[in-house]
Amino acid sequence: MNIELSSTIATVENIIDSLKNKEGSLLPILHAIQAEFGYISEQAINRIANKLQQTPAEIHGVVSFYHQFKTSPTGEHNIQICCAEACQARGSKQLKLYAKKHLNIDFNETTLDKSITLDSVYCLGNCATGPNIRVNDDLYGRVSNEKFEKIISTLTSQQGE
Ligand code: FES
Repeated sequence: MNIELSSTIATVENIIDSLKNKEGSLLPILHAIQAEFGYISEQAINRIANKLQQTPAEIHGVVSFYHQFKTSPTGEHNIQICCAEACQARGSKQLKLYAKKHLNIDFNETTLDKSITLDSVYCLGNCATGPNIRVNDDLYGRVSNEKFEKIISTLTSQQGE
């Protein structure tokens, strides 16, 4: 086993051990692993199952139920388009179609160059200024196709800086 892999496993095990005795420990464990690695690997799922004395299928069930958990590495930037009612009334359906076409990916997918992962989200708490998107930690309101395109070109021009 290489050093990088064994240190990853050690980190996963430390996270599980530090949280496993708390009530309802599975969700905090999943959140902590995703915060550390950006996604929850198959290997992490197996370790969690083993330590919590559950089956990997049970852990998979929880991971796939919650939209925010990722099971593969995500892109450098995460874009979420609000698909809740108020944003839909202000044009998010059309923006969603445009974004998918522009990036050539669907929701829950990452561009080939690994720069952008596209996701849906249900309400960003900014309903009056829809359609809204979140790019990493920043909120953008009244996002037209043109504004979306500008945001993407800013992100991609920052790459490698
Ligand atoms: S519905 Fe989109 S921010 Fe609330």
